Amino acid sequence: MKYLVSGVFFLCLLLIVSCDKGADSPRGFSLPHGDADLGKQVFIKYQCSGCHQIDDITQPQEAEFSIRLGGKTTQVKTYAELVTSVINPSHKFARGYPLSKIQQDGTSKMKVFNDVMTITELINLVAFIQPHYELMPYKNTNYQYYTY
Ligand code: HEC
Repeated sequence: MKYLVSGVFFLCLLLIVSCDKGADSPRGFSLPHGDADLGKQVFIKYQCSGCHQIDDITQPQEAEFSIRLGGKTTQVKTYAELVTSVINPSHKFARGYPLSKIQQDGTSKMKVFNDVMTITELINLVAFIQPHYELMPYKNTNYQYYTY
């Protein structure tokens, strides 16, 4: 029994460690600091409120969806997940909504902005949305250790 328990423990540990170091791991992912005020303008420019509810921005009456951005009870738990949910919406679906409403055949009903949004806009947009979530601590790369 003792061996079984420690075996399971070791297996879990191995899974956690291997996940973090795998080629698909978000480890090392880091965008530069963004400007939240400019990000709010990006949010307005791309009419995210047409489908999303976020503090400080009123949703238009004719909004297609009212999917809340921010708060605790969401799928988005880390910085990497927040960026992913914008550039790859079908990766994981928002929690708390009927799947039949928010996706079709595994594809999110969220509009994809990858061909129109600049990377600077994305960086600022994320800086605007991020404080609305209680995300797990995210460490920016500390560039002082690099030598050029
Ligand atoms: C046409 C409607 C539509 C528009 C426009 C839209 N979204 Fe979405 N968005 C969705 C839907 C539907 C979901 C839920 C399905 C999913 O998670 O992909 C979603 C999910 C998200 C999520 C994940 C929420 C969670 O709790 O998991 C984020 C973050 C997000 N959208 C950000 C944005 C941003 C930023 C914009 C503007 C640049 C935007 N969306 C524009 C429909 C839209």
